[in-house]
Amino acid sequence: MKIVVFDNLEEISKEAFKLVFEQIKKKKNTSLGLATGSSPIGLYKLMIEAYRKNKLDFSEVSTYNLDEYIGVPKENKNSYWYFMNENLFHHINIKEENCHIPNANSSNILEECLNYDKMIEEIGGVDIQILGIGRNGHIGFNEPGSSFKSKTWIVDLKRETIEDNARFFKNKSLVPTKAITMGISTIMSAKKIILLAYGEKKQEAIRKMTYGEITEKVPASVLQMHNNVTILVDKEAAKLIE
Ligand code: F6R
Repeated sequence: MKIVVFDNLEEISKEAFKLVFEQIKKKKNTSLGLATGSSPIGLYKLMIEAYRKNKLDFSEVSTYNLDEYIGVPKENKNSYWYFMNENLFHHINIKEENCHIPNANSSNILEECLNYDKMIEEIGGVDIQILGIGRNGHIGFNEPGSSFKSKTWIVDLKRETIEDNARFFKNKSLVPTKAITMGISTIMSAKKIILLAYGEKKQEAIRKMTYGEITEKVPASVLQMHNNVTILVDKEAAKLIE
């Protein structure tokens, strides 16, 4: 596990971009596992900028998002489908059919989970998986207590996750309580993992993920067992490990 500490999120985003840039230059048909939330937005802005400056071509790139809320229609501005279109897909030359997000509106969600996992298995795991981390140590929406063996599945969100997500909704009662998420073993099948985190709120989660016990109580601690993980954090988030 490589840990790099930066002054701020802007510097984190630049470093994450550098790694994604090098990967796509090396392999045009790179597969990227993507996250939503505030941590990767700066990275997505740099990917858009590189495309606009003709420095990156996404025509052969494919993407696989970590998760999607259940009970939020695709077109709703709080869906992760909407988020990805707004923050990335609509601004680069990626093919629509190459952008994969779990379909939480499927009439058969269990089958959707199986198929989503199968798709990722068939490509042998994504080349790079971008991750954020929840205050409670979740990765994707794998909350504390999730099995390290889990594959794409349906999860109940924990109170702290619902509270953190409430900032995007008009009122707390509208925040979804269920989601589809890539499982922990699905995430671990990535060839390389880059986790981005910033701010004081993440201090405890970063400490437990990096130097704590490897336990299902802290889902991100599983990353200690992956052989190619880079953690990009700011000074605030790294305070308990410096
Ligand atoms: C998002 C996801 C979550 C977030 C995490 C951090 O697709 O799977 O695990 O990465 O909750 O969110 P932010 O970046 O908003 O702090």
